[in-house]
Amino acid sequence: MSDGGGGQEAEQFRVVRPVVHLTPPVGWLNDPNGLCRHDGTYHAFYQHNPAADVWGPMHWRHATSRDLHTWQDDGIALAPDEHGAIFSGSAVCDSGGTAGFGTGAMLALFTHAGGQGQVQSLASSTDGLRTWAKYDGNPVLVPASGEKDFRDPKVFRWGSPSGQGHWVMVLAVGTRVEIYRSDDLRSWELTSSFGPDLSGIGVWECPDLFEVRVDGAGDTCWFLTLSGTNAGAHGHGGTLAISGTFDGVAFEPHDPAAPPPLVDHGPDFYAAQTFAGLPRGRTVWTAWLSSWHYALSVPSGGWRGALGIPRELDAVSTRDGYRLRQRPTAELTSLRGRCVLRHEGPLARVSLRPDDDTFAYDVAVELGPGQDVGGAVLEIGDEQAAVVTLTLTAGVVVVERRSPPGRFVADSFEQTYAAALDPEEPGVVRIVIDSTSLEVFADGGKTVVSATWFWNGVPALFLASNGDADASVACRVEVHELRPHATG
Ligand code: FRU
Repeated sequence: MSDGGGGQEAEQFRVVRPVVHLTPPVGWLNDPNGLCRHDGTYHAFYQHNPAADVWGPMHWRHATSRDLHTWQDDGIALAPDEHGAIFSGSAVCDSGGTAGFGTGAMLALFTHAGGQGQVQSLASSTDGLRTWAKYDGNPVLVPASGEKDFRDPKVFRWGSPSGQGHWVMVLAVGTRVEIYRSDDLRSWELTSSFGPDLSGIGVWECPDLFEVRVDGAGDTCWFLTLSGTNAGAHGHGGTLAISGTFDGVAFEPHDPAAPPPLVDHGPDFYAAQTFAGLPRGRTVWTAWLSSWHYALSVPSGGWRGALGIPRELDAVSTRDGYRLRQRPTAELTSLRGRCVLRHEGPLARVSLRPDDDTFAYDVAVELGPGQDVGGAVLEIGDEQAAVVTLTLTAGVVVVERRSPPGRFVADSFEQTYAAALDPEEPGVVRIVIDSTSLEVFADGGKTVVSATWFWNGVPALFLASNGDADASVACRVEVHELRPHATG
């Protein structure tokens, strides 16, 4: 679906709307909020300004999906009020009715940002997330000593869903993550604080704390994740993941001296949040696909911003400790349509272009082990210009990005992003391409690079072997179109 609406710019520049990414129908999107599954439906809320395609008075807008990847808009869920704008937060199902809104009520915990500073508030829904009522007693948590940055509550249940246990909230407070507990989601007690020295990562935002499976076996491991406005590649925003233990009260990192690894080596994966309410053992998250450094300067179609494809999470033990692994979901694979290219061996440059206005591909490249030549090059653009050049060899993945022809975005947009690959781990690299983004999953999901890109209209996708075509290149490529399920 393309989008012609919006401001003056939208008339001159045709931004084609992604098909397997959540975008706002109009206006602005940043962080994912309140991600959850309820009664078999996935719900995503997000930071939204309905009035303009720039950040402004923040609302939560709602979208629903049956498959995590094709989304239907459900309108505004929470709008600014006398306490201020609605900043980021999370949602949980109160199976035990602990908050007093009934058994199975949905509760949203979010930051109110206004004249009184940043405070945490509560809203409830008893009609399956269609409508929300803000709690009369808001705010439910105010800063103890006037902290300016006091936001982005992520809440989950410790213990059994409706029996023994308590609620836990992680909150970004200055340069620490505070951990609170509550029995009723209304009164919160500070139980611990985690504040390693991470100087240089910028403002701390959007923490999360969750348990994932390790090595596909019965073992589990906790991760505290955190976004920093300068934590990422070239000083862009970035999301860090710290492995450790959690006992319901405090988080202890496995290795306090180790610098926390980035979960994504591209510029565009920020404010990540896990979904609540998934079956036990399944962890999925997504993030805002942009960077504050240029988010306001990218081309607009009357809407700006997208969430990344929801990613399946687990962990692997490596010689450097536990590492988070992110992989495309089985639901995404089920959206594969026609196979438009299947090839083995050296590949002369081929171009692919859809018959219609969609530009969404699922690319799988299999690299042979231990090669320092060969691999694949993928370009997006036309014969004259490429806006993205992705070079894949067994040792490294490199994404070079340019502004679209005739429309400069920003110096901080025109950069090269590289990540080393584990030569011991050959295998399939998945590249999920949609009309404004590219997400590369390599090393079995240990190495990910996400970057947005823009083009005026619909470009082509070019693929070729990298380097000397005579080299013993063991490169297998398979490209499928991605097609949305019909919604409704
Ligand atoms: C992160 C963030 C959050 C805040 C929200 C406001 O991108 O700055 O810390 O709650 O965006 O829109």
